[in-house]
Amino acid sequence: MTLAILSALPQEQDGLVQAMAGAQAVAHAGRQFWRGRLHGHDVVCALSGIGKVAAATTTAALIERFGVRRIVFTGVAGGVGEGVQVGDVVIASDYLQHDLDASPLFPRWEMPGYGRTRLACDAAMAAALLQAARACVEGDTEALRARHATHPPRAHCGLIASGDQFVGTAAASRALAQGLRTAGHEVLAVEMEGAAVAQACLDYGVPFAAMRTISDRADDGAHVDFAEFVRTVASRYAQRIIGGFLQGLPPH
Ligand code: ADE
Repeated sequence: MTLAILSALPQEQDGLVQAMAGAQAVAHAGRQFWRGRLHGHDVVCALSGIGKVAAATTTAALIERFGVRRIVFTGVAGGVGEGVQVGDVVIASDYLQHDLDASPLFPRWEMPGYGRTRLACDAAMAAALLQAARACVEGDTEALRARHATHPPRAHCGLIASGDQFVGTAAASRALAQGLRTAGHEVLAVEMEGAAVAQACLDYGVPFAAMRTISDRADDGAHVDFAEFVRTVASRYAQRIIGGFLQGLPPH
């Protein structure tokens, strides 16, 4: 059963492709897909592209063209939840689209035609990712603390919000989190792809899970922190956590 590993940025994907056995590049739909084996599993690595449409297209291609039957996403996100700091990892329990608004026809944030606002990730895959993330942050405390964080990194599990927007001011971040909180949605992190992958996976009945390393606090310093963090840490986190996740996954 082939598993897809989706990343948002090339820096996040590089180490994974290098670790693959027999990696072969396949061009399709204006994208490059890497087929091969990783930790004993058939995998396809791909870049989602940035934003929800690119991510949904890539997901559909992975399922239709490459026959993948499970998808895991690795990337970075802005931390908006209390206590979610740079260097932490958030495993998605579920997703919503923070920029979706078909009101007054549908309640704010509800996905038209789906009768729901939140999309759950696969519980077993999310639990396995959380275990791998905990092992990673507990084992890598010193290196990360030295460079990026003033606290030991932690692994969280909870709601992630996606939208076609880089959240780069404290005011925008606060408004987003508070608006959602008043409707009962406590968001831990924001990014730009996951909810779209979750929606496409729901349509196809493909289990999906996601890990996001917190690169910034989605505030006025976000763009500065972001570039630095992706360069130095994201790829290393992706390799370790996805490696641990795959090693614990039963072969199919
Ligand atoms: N990915 C990483 N940081 C982000 C932010 N602040 N907003 C949206 N996506 C992100």
